[in-house]
Amino acid sequence: MSVALPNDYNKVLYQPLAEADPEVQQIIENETWRQFSGLELIASENLTSLATMEANGSILTNKYSEGLPGARYYGGNEYIDQLERLCQERALKAFDLDPKIWGVNVQPYSGSTANFATFTAILNPQDRIMGLGLPSGGHLTHGFYTAKKKISASSIYFQSFPYQVDLKTGIIDYEGLHKNADLFKPRLLITGGSAYPRDWDYARLAETAKSQGAYLMSDIAHISGLVAAKVQSNPFEYCDIVTTTTHKTLRGPRAGLIFYRKDKDAEMEGKINAAVFPACQGGPHNNTIAGIAVALKQAADPAFKEYATQIINNSRAMAEKLHEKGYKLQTDGSDNHLILWDLRPLALTGSKIEKICDLAHITLNKNAVPGDLSAMTPGGVRLGMGALTSRGMKESDMHKVAEFLIRVIDISLEIQSKVGKKLVDFLKAAESHEGIKQLHADVEKFATSFPLPGVRDTSSIKKPSA
Ligand SMILES: Cc1ncc(COP(=O)(O)O)c(C=O)c1O
Repeated sequence: MSVALPNDYNKVLYQPLAEADPEVQQIIENETWRQFSGLELIASENLTSLATMEANGSILTNKYSEGLPGARYYGGNEYIDQLERLCQERALKAFDLDPKIWGVNVQPYSGSTANFATFTAILNPQDRIMGLGLPSGGHLTHGFYTAKKKISASSIYFQSFPYQVDLKTGIIDYEGLHKNADLFKPRLLITGGSAYPRDWDYARLAETAKSQGAYLMSDIAHISGLVAAKVQSNPFEYCDIVTTTTHKTLRGPRAGLIFYRKDKDAEMEGKINAAVFPACQGGPHNNTIAGIAVALKQAADPAFKEYATQIINNSRAMAEKLHEKGYKLQTDGSDNHLILWDLRPLALTGSKIEKICDLAHITLNKNAVPGDLSAMTPGGVRLGMGALTSRGMKESDMHKVAEFLIRVIDISLEIQSKVGKKLVDFLKAAESHEGIKQLHADVEKFATSFPLPGVRDTSSIKKPSA
C-alpha cells in the first residue's frame, strides 16, 4: 500500500519541476535546444550520459557524509560508504591502477579544489611551484599571476614560476624548464594544461622533478578520458600525484579526483584525505560521486576506447582541413582532443571569432596563443572535439564543421575590411550580415541531424518560441 501524498505545506516536495517551477524548467528546455541545435567546440566541455545525469539528479543529494567510508562524522552512511568505495574501485580500474600502489580521493567538488587540496596536502605556504604558464596553455590553478596581480590562490599562497612552450615550435621547452628548475628549486612540478594540443614527455619531467627532489603532479583534467583509454601517454608511470576533472574527456558529472601514490610515502594517503576534508571542503556531494561512479564504469568499457580514439581522429581531421587552407595551428596540429588556432596571421582576434561563431551557433572560446602581447586581446581560439565526438560525429563531419569555420573566417575578413577593426562596429555589422544568418541556418540543420546524449527522443526537444 502506498502512502498518501501530503496536501499541506509539504505538497511542493512532490511536484515535478515543470509544475513546481516552470521558469527554471523553461530555461532547461532552452538550454537543451541550444545544445542540440548548435556545435559545441569548447574543449573543456562534453556531453555526459543519461545514466550519469540520473545518478547526479538523485536522492543521494540529501545525505551528509563528512569523512571517509567507514569513518564518518554522521550516521546513516551504510549505502553512501558502499557508493564511495565503489567509485574508488572504479576510478582505479578505469586507469588500470594497482590498489596496492595507488589510492584515490573521489570527493573533490571540482578540478580547482582537487588541485588546491593537493597543494594543501604536500606543500607549506610559500613553497615553490612550477606549472605551464597560462599563455603557454597551462591552467590558472597551476600558479597563475600577472605583473600587477596574483590571480590564482595557487600564486597567492605559493611562490610560482611558470615554464613555457618554445615560441617557434609551440612544444614545451623541457630544456628551459630543467634549467629554470635548477635555479628556482621547486617543491612541486606540475604538468598538464588547458590549451596544449600535444602529448607530454612525463619521463623528461620526472627527470627534472627528481633532480630537485620535487614532487611531480600531473593535472590531466582535459585528457583524462584519453589517458584512461590509453590513447595518450601514461602519467601514472612517473607521477606522485595525478588530479583530474571528471567532466571533460572523461565524460562524467562536474567534479574532481585526486590519485596519489601510496608506496613511496606512507603518509601521503592521510595527507591527501585530510586536505580534501576538513582542510578544503565540507560534506561530499554524494549525488555527484554516484555520477562519477557511473561515468567510470563507462570509461572502463571497451566502447570508451573507441570513443577516445575517435576524438583524436576527429581532431586530426579538423586540423588537416584547417591546415590545408593555410591557417596557422599551434604546433601545426594536434595529438589530443583540442586544436589551438592562431588567428594573428589573418589579422583577426580570438574575441571577434568567438562572438561571430556565437551568432552562427558554433560555440568555442577565445584563447591566448604563445607570444600574445596582451592577455586582453587573445590572438587565437581553442577548438575541442569531445562534445562533437559524443554526438557521434566522425572525420567527414569534422570536415563539414571545418568548412563552417572557414565561412566564419571569410565573413569576418569581409566585415573587417568594410567597417575596420573596432569590436563594436564589427559586431554590429555581423549581427545583420546575411552570410551569418545563412550560416546559422546551415549549422542548425547539420547539428540537429545528430542525437544529443541524455535525450532519448530528440523530437521532444522544443525550439524556444522567443
Ligand atoms: C587543466 C585544468 N585543471 C583544472 C581545471 C579546473 O576545473 P574546474 O573548472 O572543475 O574547477 C581545468 C578547467 O578547465 C583545467 O583545464
